[in-house]
Amino acid sequence: MKINIINGPNLNLLGMREKNIYGEKTYQDLHRQIKKYADKKNIDVSLFQSNIEGEIINFLHQSMHEKADAIIINAGALSHYSYAIRDAIASINLPTIEIHLSNIYAREKFRAKSVIAEVCIGQVCGLGFDGYILAMDFLCNKNKIAE
Ligand code: DQA
Repeated sequence: MKINIINGPNLNLLGMREKNIYGEKTYQDLHRQIKKYADKKNIDVSLFQSNIEGEIINFLHQSMHEKADAIIINAGALSHYSYAIRDAIASINLPTIEIHLSNIYAREKFRAKSVIAEVCIGQVCGLGFDGYILAMDFLCNKNKIAE
């Protein structure tokens, strides 16, 4: 299974930004943790981080062309207002899971609205790095659990 994982604006600053919310661990730690789990589960994972909306859209398009099986995306603040990312997710027609490290419903009001949620199969928020792992697990098992 090929899963493409996207992290949006400011997530490269994990471990430095608002540590009280996002913790001490860095983006490199997240990268390592995801790769380790993916290797264990035989998942072909590609990680992409960008602070630029258009680059994220291009990577979503590329994911469709290279026939990825699924997308896991933490679009950062873009989740709250980017109709362009929403349209890109809807256009590529790949099962997509939205991630937030923090609980966006327990923070400022503007964070409680995600414009990408409706085009994703589900959302994991507030569970920190584990959210990415749980999403990978779900995607691997999604057609097996009900059998
Ligand atoms: C975030 C939540 C967003 O509101 C914020 O803009 C981020 C990170 C999270 O992972 O909790 O950059 O997506």
